[in-house]
Amino acid sequence: MMPAKSVALLTSGGDAPGMNAAIRAATLVAHAAGWRVYGVQHGYVGLRAGAFVPLAPTDVHGIVREGGTVLGSARCPEFLTREGRDTARRALAAEGIEHLLVIGGNGSLAGLHALSAPEELGSQRLLVVGVPASIDNDVGLTGLSIGVDTAMNTIVEACDKIADTASAHGRTFIVEVMGRDSGYLAMTTGIATGADLVLFRESGRTEDDVVDAVVRTIEGARLRAVPPKRVLIIKAEGVAITTERLKARVDERLSANTEAGLLKETRVSVLGHIVRGGRPSALDRLLGSRLGFVAVKALLAGQTRLMAAWHTAGPPPPGVRVSASDPHCSLADLGAVLEETRRLTGGDSPLVRWRTHVFAEIEDILRS
Ligand code: F6P
Repeated sequence: MMPAKSVALLTSGGDAPGMNAAIRAATLVAHAAGWRVYGVQHGYVGLRAGAFVPLAPTDVHGIVREGGTVLGSARCPEFLTREGRDTARRALAAEGIEHLLVIGGNGSLAGLHALSAPEELGSQRLLVVGVPASIDNDVGLTGLSIGVDTAMNTIVEACDKIADTASAHGRTFIVEVMGRDSGYLAMTTGIATGADLVLFRESGRTEDDVVDAVVRTIEGARLRAVPPKRVLIIKAEGVAITTERLKARVDERLSANTEAGLLKETRVSVLGHIVRGGRPSALDRLLGSRLGFVAVKALLAGQTRLMAAWHTAGPPPPGVRVSASDPHCSLADLGAVLEETRRLTGGDSPLVRWRTHVFAEIEDILRS
């Protein structure tokens, strides 16, 4: 009798709410196909150390509701080297594991691409599929990554609370949100919270331009016939100036230019890792479950070096095809994903140019 096939599941990089839904779906689907399922503890660090734990359906019971990742995660600089990846490949071979599913963001998917490169694999059999999970929404060729929706909801809830106290005191708040180099969370939540200004790296503003934009927003609000009760500014963490320094420079300008009064008093709030935690939203639970399902189906079908993606409008771009298992999901070539990710984070993708253009167009409208 042929030994059962096995698949290892791994979460890597910054955790994202909904990762557990993907782990659960992948475990259940692979187990139902008669495969042995292993969880790798703490990402590529655990993979290099051979930290495999068997996963049965009972082990994933109820985890769909939980934030973070039950497998643990890590950042693993050793994976950037050939030697670091050789150690990981040896650990998989020693356990007889020929299938690997990685749930993570752009660094994790780049690691998976390198780990499965034919020129490094030699005669070792290793089939891999990735699932995009990062609150930053900076992975190419997927409309959405796991964790983004929950992060947006967390930011909106926090800003709604901040708006209460800001309105009570007639203050201006600058709220910094995570996202690394991507302004996606800042842009979307800026709209969803009714913010007066959104600051993000992709706009290419200099530090002086950023300070000017904030001062102009506050002064404009103060001059309105009916001034707003509060000014809310959302700043993406990728904007080069720190939020504290921005406040200091804005305060200096306001005290020189403007008489005391409402909206002139500024406060900052850096939401930090709060944005990454919490129970996943219904959408992230569904997204994790559907992408986990599609990813395992691809492995079962003998496919490799793909990423399960959330299908966006229009025909699939080159290197992407609609999944036979779910018409809302596609399977994208891992190399093409990484190329598009580089364009997204480098600012030269049409999508990023469109977002920047739209915000330039609506900036004055948001201020009015
Ligand atoms: O990539 C996800 C993310 O949360 C980014 O938004 C943020 O810049 C980074 O990870 C923080 O990483 P760490 O938790 O390692 O400090």
